[in-house]
Amino acid sequence: MMRCAVLTLFPDMVAPVLGQSMLKRAQEKGLLEVSVRNLRDFTFDRHKTADDVPYGGGAGMVMKAEPIFLAVEALCDQYGAANPIDANVRIVMPSPQGRPFSQELAKSLAEDARPIVFLCGHYEGIDERVRLALHPEEISVGDYVLTGGELAALVMIDAAARLVPGVLGDQASAEEESFSEALLEYPHYTRPAEVRGMGVPDVLVSGNHERIRVWRRKEAIRNTYQKRPDLLRDRVLGKEDQQLLIEVMQESLASACAGRRGD
Ligand code: ADE
Repeated sequence: MMRCAVLTLFPDMVAPVLGQSMLKRAQEKGLLEVSVRNLRDFTFDRHKTADDVPYGGGAGMVMKAEPIFLAVEALCDQYGAANPIDANVRIVMPSPQGRPFSQELAKSLAEDARPIVFLCGHYEGIDERVRLALHPEEISVGDYVLTGGELAALVMIDAAARLVPGVLGDQASAEEESFSEALLEYPHYTRPAEVRGMGVPDVLVSGNHERIRVWRRKEAIRNTYQKRPDLLRDRVLGKEDQQLLIEVMQESLASACAGRRGD
């Protein structure tokens, strides 16, 4: 069971996504709990002000600290944690300045017994005193800047939730696929047997499970070699994989030569 909360000024950017597909089913099955909280509910002025102009001047608005502290404290109460930094709650702040998100981090979120609070920044950022007091774990989903942390939080929740045992119908698929083994996936085909003149590789309809396994392994290696050769660089390959990689490299060289000759 993965328990998390998303603190945001824009709950409608988050909640509808959680109500679809796998994330919806994971919650229905009791394998995932996500509570989406509007930070404006933790403000007490007439206008529900959660942001203000920056000290020192300049463009943009800064999210106020107090509504965030109050929201985190309310969640800690709900989770039975004494206070936000007593290590019983994991506070994640999506930020382009953070540590790069990865399959390994997704796994660590999925396996964490603590509730995870995603603190979503917007506008120019969050009052620095939130970071100083709560020491959130800053995580980036890539070297680009989003309009806020909500989409990044959803990316992390999605990637982690599918690793919670039972969320995917077939647990083997989580283990088999891209990145969990640092290889990209092999190609998939489904019915019909012919689509716009394109068929299905014979081996997949051969019924020979061993040949299918080897074909899939080789195509996974080919995909990785062609699209993400960096993933193969630091990898120690077993004997079968080494042989398949050699074949893939030879085939790729042969097709490059054929291309030059115009065959
Ligand atoms: N907020 C804005 N940009 C982001 C990014 N790249 N990753 C995580 N949070 C963000």
